[in-house]
Amino acid sequence: MKTDELRQLYLDFYVSKGHTLCASDVLVPTWDASVLFTPAGMNPFKDHFLGKVKLEFTRATSCQKCLRTGDIENVGRTAYHHTFFEMLGNFSFGDYFKREAINWAWEFLTDKKWLGLDADRLSVTVYKDDDEAAKIWATDVKLPQSRIQRMDEDENFWPASAPSQGPDGVCGPCSEIYYHPPGGQEVEIWNLVFTQFNRVGDPPDNLRPLPSKNIDTGMGLERTAATLQGVDTNYHIDILKPIVLAAAEICGREYDPKSEDGRRLRRITDHVRACTFAIHENVYPGANKEKYVVKRLLRRAVLDGHQMGLRDPFLHQLVPAVVAAMRTPYPELSETAARVAEGIKNEEANFFGTIDDGLARIGKIFKQMESNSRLVVDGGDAAELYTTYGVPPELFANLAAEKNLAFDWDGFRLRMDEHGDISGGGRMALFGDDAVESLKKAHKHTKFVGYERTETAAELLGIVAQNSLCDELDEIGHQQPVIVVLDATPFYAESGGQVGDSGWIVGEKFKFEVTDTQKNGDLVLHFGHLREGHMTAGDGVTATVDADRRDAIRRAHSATHILHHALQKNLGAHAQQQGSKVERDLLRFDFTNQGAVPQETLEKIEAEVRGRISVGDAITAEVVPLADARQAGAMMLFGEKYPDPVRMISMGDFSKELCGGTHLPNTKDVGQFEVISEESVSAGTRRIVALTGTLAKEHADKTEFVLSEVAALLKVEPTQVPAAIDALSRYARALKKEVNTGEAAGDSPRLQDAAHDHRAHKLLLRETAAALKVSPFDVPERIESLVAEIEHLGAQLAQRRASDGVTPESLLAAAEEIDGVRVVVAEAVGSNPNMMRQMIDRLRKEASPVAVFLGCGQGEDKVMLVAGVSRDLEERGVDSGRWVRESAAIVGGSGGGKPSLAQAGGKHPEKLPEALAQARETIRAMLAR
Ligand code: SER
Repeated sequence: MKTDELRQLYLDFYVSKGHTLCASDVLVPTWDASVLFTPAGMNPFKDHFLGKVKLEFTRATSCQKCLRTGDIENVGRTAYHHTFFEMLGNFSFGDYFKREAINWAWEFLTDKKWLGLDADRLSVTVYKDDDEAAKIWATDVKLPQSRIQRMDEDENFWPASAPSQGPDGVCGPCSEIYYHPPGGQEVEIWNLVFTQFNRVGDPPDNLRPLPSKNIDTGMGLERTAATLQGVDTNYHIDILKPIVLAAAEICGREYDPKSEDGRRLRRITDHVRACTFAIHENVYPGANKEKYVVKRLLRRAVLDGHQMGLRDPFLHQLVPAVVAAMRTPYPELSETAARVAEGIKNEEANFFGTIDDGLARIGKIFKQMESNSRLVVDGGDAAELYTTYGVPPELFANLAAEKNLAFDWDGFRLRMDEHGDISGGGRMALFGDDAVESLKKAHKHTKFVGYERTETAAELLGIVAQNSLCDELDEIGHQQPVIVVLDATPFYAESGGQVGDSGWIVGEKFKFEVTDTQKNGDLVLHFGHLREGHMTAGDGVTATVDADRRDAIRRAHSATHILHHALQKNLGAHAQQQGSKVERDLLRFDFTNQGAVPQETLEKIEAEVRGRISVGDAITAEVVPLADARQAGAMMLFGEKYPDPVRMISMGDFSKELCGGTHLPNTKDVGQFEVISEESVSAGTRRIVALTGTLAKEHADKTEFVLSEVAALLKVEPTQVPAAIDALSRYARALKKEVNTGEAAGDSPRLQDAAHDHRAHKLLLRETAAALKVSPFDVPERIESLVAEIEHLGAQLAQRRASDGVTPESLLAAAEEIDGVRVVVAEAVGSNPNMMRQMIDRLRKEASPVAVFLGCGQGEDKVMLVAGVSRDLEERGVDSGRWVRESAAIVGGSGGGKPSLAQAGGKHPEKLPEALAQARETIRAMLAR
């Protein structure tokens, strides 16, 4: 059974049992601070389990894209481990419980109508105290006791060991289903979790029954597919093997599953799949959090390629294989494939730039360790490798593990802290938590005055540096940010998608630059660097936000509300906000919509936003009771929790949203607005990226500039560009065809005129970019290469046209007859190997028995020879390979082929007549035998 079929069958089965089909949620749930990546199918339903949202359904089923790094060391080494994988699941929110969950799982696995697995090959485990589940397996399913095993909380609780070790939150006993393949190792394919508790704090009495009992099951799609396809590793199923083989080809290796290279190719497969999905969601490799995970996976895969001898970026070439394999469930991947490949390539290029030096340094370290009999890699060395050569510490640790050496993680972290560099594991975790907690206890909250003004007088309450609370600080040049807490601040802390403010905190004796602002509870944390002087807790300060930057952020935020309105108006009420990021003059807005927004509608939306900006409506903020806001029709998002009272932002009479962000006084202050892209984030969720104010203006100017540059290159009016490109591309294809087959290409294209304005220009450039499959600002470069290609084809064609005199008739007319065989030995002026082969084919059909030897020069220093004989001659033992080889030696080359057709290339076109004379000699001798 194909994996695509399995996925569909599972969802169909649970839909037939009354479940609502839910599309996969995103891989990177930015709204869930407790995880970097979606780790399981249940994650998107957390609030449903806790009863925090209104339930529109009580049974759901999904196939969720997931990523886990816990077992990363095993990827490629074992049959079943992945980072990225898909999880099939069925969920009950206070609806059915253990009995249905177990019986349905069994039906789906064993019934011939569904998977039809051999029941004798299945066994289960249950939590040691879960008599209820054990009984259902024994009496309903009639599984013999020998195949029901009871296990402890580390095996049969989800999350593992939750009762004693946490984390807090929804949890419950589980029952796992194992498959025992013939002759192979058993494999867990399904985990049924009976989510009945909310864990609160440490034992005892820390498991509170949930308001209603729930079901959360997770079936590993790849594992089950491997079972059904009878392959011994997930990597050989139909959606993964093609990527493994594509990787083998790109790395120039034969795929041998058991070899070290086989393991590397599987790891590359896993990691490139993970990176493709993450970058598709705009999570690019970077220094922190989920971005760092992407960087680490990518670099690990690149290292594997490097160890197989590659020295140039290669990983990005696998993106099409990933997109093809995952096409059915995630068609949206193909829309961003070019952007994803480029993202991967850039990071690969970065790493390839330092990897040789990095590895040489690591080699030296290993040598020294060997001669000093040291067994633990020094954390300081690893920190240097990371900061200087970009070698992620995990990767260094992997290389060390391969040599049975340990790795000093504590030492690494310590040194990174000292250096003040951002650490891999996530800066916040290593940084200042305890100290911040004690500040929080002492001061509780910072008064925020940033809605009214961007500057205020305040008192400096605390400084956290090097993970500890300090009364004073005078060290300039610390790279790791220091945290400053004030009693009042105009700085907006990152929240609701709006980035944190930057600016200055200045006292009588110091200047502190704020680079980022974050929140911890109600405390505002100013991250930054002491630039001058000496700061002391208790100092009076002036806190000043970078007002230009704040204005740019306000433009983007107000424009986001206008865009939200325009989307709902043009697409319908379903087009609700799913996520948003507001930066300086840049906004990213995710919303619900099936399929791409048509270009025409997108333009209407853009025009609507511009219209609202030019009308100039007042923007006001007021704090009102939640009920009043609801009454006023303010936009409220499903699943969102709002405080009461709430802050409501109104724009004219067209928009009311609950929002804590900073806004402009009037819509006209947004200035310019430009949508720069519309793309898919996941099934049913789209993303618009747009610019405002200064950035929008720059983008518009650049569009005009690039388009006029392109027009100049093509020698047409800007409005003619797409037509010109279309005609030019078609002409290039026709020329190629004529070079190869002789079918006339026709004349070079003619171009026409049309109307123009900026809107049209932007569209023209985008259309052109789409036709050329590059990003808009790369169009000129692509055109240059297209023009060069056409010139090259033109030259080839001129040569080809010169060969028009070479026809089958003319060749046969000049043939010599030896022993009843027609022998053609001739120069095919202006021809190429392809044409010569076709000619030989025709002659063999028309004039058998025949022996043909053709040669032609290819430019100044190349000559090609092709020889072929008809079948009867081949049967008489005449060998074209030998024929062509003897002449090839004369033109300084070599070649070969089959007895019926052979080909050779040489370096001396001037010796072609001599080679043809030799060919006549050779065939005479061959026929005489
Ligand atoms: N949440 C459980 C798991 O991840 C079942 O879906 O295994």
